[in-house]
Amino acid sequence: MTPTITLAKGDITRESADAIVNAANSSLLGGGGVDGAIHRRGGPAILEECRKLRASQYGKGLSTGRAVATTAGDLDARFVIHTVGPVWSATEDRSELLASCYRESLRVADELGARTVAFPAVSTGIYGWPIDDGARIAVETVRAADTAVEEVRFVLFDERAYEAFAAQTR
Ligand code: AR6
Repeated sequence: MTPTITLAKGDITRESADAIVNAANSSLLGGGGVDGAIHRRGGPAILEECRKLRASQYGKGLSTGRAVATTAGDLDARFVIHTVGPVWSATEDRSELLASCYRESLRVADELGARTVAFPAVSTGIYGWPIDDGARIAVETVRAADTAVEEVRFVLFDERAYEAFAAQTR
């Protein structure tokens, strides 16, 4: 099945979806942007699980394009799915890695039995991906996904990002 796509404006840490996706980095140990906001509001339980994942399965860190779940700590969501987006490159096409973030996150969501999943616009902040292209890849990949997730909600932080996603879903 293909999920219904909805758009929301605002802070993803306020979402009450079954799972929210974190635009993390391979260390899984926190950072700025969405990642910082999730760890701040979600509390220390998230970082604690991330540390355990590093120690058990991901000694070298989580690879770009992959995803892994932890508790959502104090957030309303049940799970946080951490994915590592590619850093934008003007000389190398890394689109497949960005698409993989959405596909892998939905695969993990299926394993968790999550039916509603909220995504930020992965890679379009600190990692520098142009928002229009990031929105296109996000929407195309979710539309092509075979998943039991019923709703994918893109939670966009500012008007510009919201408009970029709206243009892809009109
Ligand atoms: N809710 C929703 N969207 C947000 C929020 C929020 N609270 N905060 C920022 N955005 P970014 P990346 C938007 O930088 O580009 C971290 O340090 C933001 O405007 O969070 O994948 C990690 O640890 C942008 O459109 O993630 C990595 O090192 C989008 O979310 C690195 O940043 C993604 O911006 C990952 O960079």
